Amino acid sequence: MNRRDLFKYSSLIGANLFLHPNLLWSNSILDSTKRNKKFIFSNKNNREFSPNIIPDLSSLKARLHWNENPFGPSKAGLKEFKNSAKKGNFYSWDRHNEFVDVISSKEGVNPGNILTGPGSSDLLEKVAIVLLRNGGSVISADPCYMSLINVAIAINANSHMIKLTPEYEHDLDAMESKINSETKLIYITNPNNPTGTITDRKKLYAFCDRVSNRVPVFIDEAYIEVSEGGLDNSMVKLVAQGKDVIISRTFSKIYGMAGLRLGYIVAAEKRLEEIRSITRGGMGITGPSINAAIKSLDDFEFINSCKENFIFNREFTVSQLKYRGFDPMPSNTNFLIFELPKSTSPNLFLKKMYQQRVSVKAFNFWEKNWCRVSIGTMDNMKTFIDAFDNALI
Ligand SMILES: Cc1ncc(COP(=O)(O)O)c(C=O)c1O
Repeated sequence: MNRRDLFKYSSLIGANLFLHPNLLWSNSILDSTKRNKKFIFSNKNNREFSPNIIPDLSSLKARLHWNENPFGPSKAGLKEFKNSAKKGNFYSWDRHNEFVDVISSKEGVNPGNILTGPGSSDLLEKVAIVLLRNGGSVISADPCYMSLINVAIAINANSHMIKLTPEYEHDLDAMESKINSETKLIYITNPNNPTGTITDRKKLYAFCDRVSNRVPVFIDEAYIEVSEGGLDNSMVKLVAQGKDVIISRTFSKIYGMAGLRLGYIVAAEKRLEEIRSITRGGMGITGPSINAAIKSLDDFEFINSCKENFIFNREFTVSQLKYRGFDPMPSNTNFLIFELPKSTSPNLFLKKMYQQRVSVKAFNFWEKNWCRVSIGTMDNMKTFIDAFDNALI
């Protein structure tokens, strides 16, 4: 953390102009808040605040609400994407099969252990549908990433969410003790979203090794590359050992390809056969995305620089927040979360942030309100800190 920046930003508290909201955000956000005062989207266990209508994102000064990668895509990947778009008249099964080969050798498994999809969300949802279509329950953390859980609830399965430990890790003992005859799936996000925190690798490994003999364990590793230790934290080795563990990965985060939509799961062949029996993978993915991904996988300079930037900019943001008396959870991801002051209304806070053209998320869990901010460029993070100071005035 650079001392000059610390002083610069501390001196900005209260000094920035709080420009008139209508000048800053004259269109949809104000209209949408007029129509519906609340930003809230909620379900039983996890409450997330966001605009009901997505505002004009192109006018944002700092886009920090979806944990995207502002440094991507890789230049080599993008070149490949553009070149292969010329062959957009053809289906891309040949490229798809090559992609599966590349991924299976990267993960140390057979091609039959890989199922691809347009982003990992697609696969989270498919797994929920296949495993919970006849009822039963899923056990996950409170809070956790909700894609899979929301689908489970929508198809009338039960969801049991177990509060993270005081160290913000998955409470593996409590999760295991909750397993009963109706449990169809355990869902773990490591590192977790929205907390950004990681669960101890050894404890998680022992848990997966043991518990997967009773019930399938899904580990969502969307942010694993950004974590300290990176892929060493992955549980994918258990799949090669024949365990009933399902690992999901995405090209949306470290590879900076969120809009190009590509993800995959690695799982036992038998488990994937069950999923393939009602829905196939691969059909929703485009050839240019596949080619960009294959190229990006080898672009280590790009991957390493993204990770370095995330860590450096995250540390800057953490020190700025700590200086202001906030206490972010220890993040292993390209986002971080911290508690908002008790007196702050999340709706008003978000409105003030969006009015300054800075997008973040707000959550309510454990009876507290939280701000989650994605890690962007250094300029983005300075803009965030300035807007944050104004929003809390
Ligand atoms: C934990 C987690 N899993 C999965 C996803 C879905 O990502 P995608 O569908 O882009 O692969 C996200 C997106 O933010 C996420 O945070």
